[in-house]
Amino acid sequence: MPFPLDRPRRLRDNSTLRSLVRETLVTPQDLIYPLFVVPGKGVESPISTLPRQYHLSPDRAAERAKSFYKDGGRALLLFGLPDHKDELGSSGAEENGPVQEAIKAIKDVVPQILIATDVCLCEYTSHGHCGVLEGTKVLNDPTIQLLAAQALSHAKAGADLVAPSDMMDGRVAAIRQKLDENGFYGLPIMSYSVKYASAFYGPFREAARNTPCAGDRQGYQMDPANRREAAFELQLDLQEGADIVMVKPAGPYLDIIREMRDLTLRPLAAYQVSGEFAMLDAAANHGLLDFRKAAKESLIGIKRAGADLIISYLAPEFLLW
Ligand code: PBG
Repeated sequence: MPFPLDRPRRLRDNSTLRSLVRETLVTPQDLIYPLFVVPGKGVESPISTLPRQYHLSPDRAAERAKSFYKDGGRALLLFGLPDHKDELGSSGAEENGPVQEAIKAIKDVVPQILIATDVCLCEYTSHGHCGVLEGTKVLNDPTIQLLAAQALSHAKAGADLVAPSDMMDGRVAAIRQKLDENGFYGLPIMSYSVKYASAFYGPFREAARNTPCAGDRQGYQMDPANRREAAFELQLDLQEGADIVMVKPAGPYLDIIREMRDLTLRPLAAYQVSGEFAMLDAAANHGLLDFRKAAKESLIGIKRAGADLIISYLAPEFLLW
């Protein structure tokens, strides 16, 4: 018997061979870019915790969308920061809210771009929780009605995809019903189905100004230790009519992404969250790693784990690489 039996290095000899046998490719079409929109005009202020990300008024969001599209980007995810908040997060469903206005402004300039909207109450509630509060508890059933109203207002403004991120039980069904009743039966729902209560959302709290004034989100987001529960959440969302399901965060949960991939025939999204992005940037700034290489590798890892689409703050930079 000759030694060694096989030589895997034969196929690594040069870059042509390597690209011929490469198994995973991240393309611009795989990426969704999150934008944070605020009321007003001409606003473009850097978010202190998220390098190269901005709070944008609808007109500036439209400019960003245009250059993103020109570079090959195809999809956005909008988060709104209203100028008034209340107990019920009512401003989230206002016709002239920042998200609703940004959808119209972006569609005016780049009608072809896909606009997904984050549907949640936390940016709009005075207390920063993702639902209606009673004492220290977040009430489930009253919350899902408010989420459905917010999703409908996004649909009316022209959103292409609504993405509930609140983790209330039954919200996908409630949103589906509301959209259907209003004639939006063709509008897909991308559900944050498997969303963990994660420390990696840290930098986002400044971006969305949604830190809970008391308590945390462990009463509705998932325990990072749980794997079976992820399958259960996924199953429920699919039964309720989710068109795309999501795992969030991505990097620390690659096992969950792979498992969800194997459990559904539906498209699977993964959210590379603010903390994952900020860590890469901070490490690179300390000269500890090559930002571009490490960032690309992080996206390949998420795709290889089984995600079809990736929501990432890296999207505009990735297009230029
Ligand atoms: C809630 C929401 C959060 C993120 C997306 N939607 C924050 C949270 O649940 O606390 C986090 C995204 C990120 O960290 O990049 N509407």
